[in-house]
Amino acid sequence: MTEAPAGSLVCPEPEARPDLWPWTTRRDEDGALSVGGLSLAKIARDCATPVFVLDRADLRGRARVWATTMAEEFWDGYGMAGGDAFYAAKALLCADVADVVTGEGMGVDTASLGELAITLRAGVDPGRVGLHGNNKRDAEIELALEAGEGAGIMRIFIDSLPEVAQVERIAAGRGATVHVMVRLKTGIHAGGNEYIATSHEDQKFGVSVADGSAMDVVRAILASPHLELLGFHNHIGSQIEGTQAFEAAARIVVDFRARVRDECGVEVPEIDLGGGTGIAYTGADPVPTSAAEVARALAAAVRNECEATRTSIPHVSVEPGRAVVGPTTVTLYRVGAIKDVTLEGGAVRRYVAVDGGMSDNIRPALYGADYTATLANRAPSGSVQRCRVVGKHCESGDIVVWDVDLPSDIRADDLLAVPATGAYGWSMSSNYNMLTRPGIVAVEDANARWIVRPQTLADLMDLDPGLDAED
Ligand SMILES: Cc1ncc(COP(=O)(O)O)c(C=O)c1O
Repeated sequence: MTEAPAGSLVCPEPEARPDLWPWTTRRDEDGALSVGGLSLAKIARDCATPVFVLDRADLRGRARVWATTMAEEFWDGYGMAGGDAFYAAKALLCADVADVVTGEGMGVDTASLGELAITLRAGVDPGRVGLHGNNKRDAEIELALEAGEGAGIMRIFIDSLPEVAQVERIAAGRGATVHVMVRLKTGIHAGGNEYIATSHEDQKFGVSVADGSAMDVVRAILASPHLELLGFHNHIGSQIEGTQAFEAAARIVVDFRARVRDECGVEVPEIDLGGGTGIAYTGADPVPTSAAEVARALAAAVRNECEATRTSIPHVSVEPGRAVVGPTTVTLYRVGAIKDVTLEGGAVRRYVAVDGGMSDNIRPALYGADYTATLANRAPSGSVQRCRVVGKHCESGDIVVWDVDLPSDIRADDLLAVPATGAYGWSMSSNYNMLTRPGIVAVEDANARWIVRPQTLADLMDLDPGLDAED
């Protein structure tokens, strides 16, 4: 099993680390945590556990900050050419989330038929939607072209040379012109874990600037009658601290744009510099880099590099996911079995089992990701005991929180809240062990509403035709 990551063992209360919790999280007078004006104890009673609880006002605020900050830093009044922010739907998508983020000025970037279909069904303007994917199926491209009564979505990100011919074939069949951006591999190695670093050479995404494949793709697009080259894209990875890696990538993208101008005579109007801004998951994590810090650093890097390469300043967009939705949500679990385990050397580790686990949060098992947890139904007080919070799955790696100090009197039926589970929690959830996927309840102004209903046993049964289907 992977070693537990180092980190603080005490879960900070909301007033101590507001960046870790949904914005409206409070410890009420009775000691219970509340979000959006609703006690988590009441939510657990009404909705059952486990459940994702999303603070809608917080989501709205974060989306607005990204959209306005990008527009502001790249404002043409500052000599820039406009800025924009697209929500990375893979972090968490349902109609309500798409509606909230676009209502605050963000576009939406999708990466599959399902993400695109849900986004369009939510009524998002196709002119504000992008499509990613390193292995797009024809059906995905066809839906992208059909959207908006045939006007198509705003941009398709080309990830390989064969994809140029694929999109060209489908566009030609419809007599359409498609706006495309080329996903570049800039060689920057960044990201909180190897699996979420996405722009070094030895990984599957994008076409390499260094080995010439990116230029081959550009020439193929320019030769293609149904494709219009909108610009270049680079996403270096996820859970990134600071701004240095983003700035380095921005310089490479701007340089490549200048080379394309010099070699092909085309100066593309746009660049997209991806997502990746990190968030705090535990009290040991630093306060995250803000949207304003990222946008300001990107604006300076783009401006300077455009000056150096004597190119015009492009329109610049970004695609944050985790930083928009991650901290807006907590997962609420109910405690079940508790077991003290004597370790080598005599120390005791208390295993606190909850009613979910790796099927609603795979990140600890997948990348050793660190989370924290606190009591949600009463205030933590008295002595503490070192605990490992585990799930109910048939794997010893089914860990929710590696190490956290919880009150020694923790008992069955207590509620635990795990903060910062909004991104890549529900979206990566599964039916492992035939557990039903939890729902997402949005809270705002003391009202709660399912924005994704929880699966039921009947849903699982429906997927399995059973033996009678052969009759
Ligand atoms: C192309 C692309 N853009 C944006 C994102 C969002 O990244 P994050 O959630 O770290 O902001 C991802 C995440 O994998 C991605 O692949």
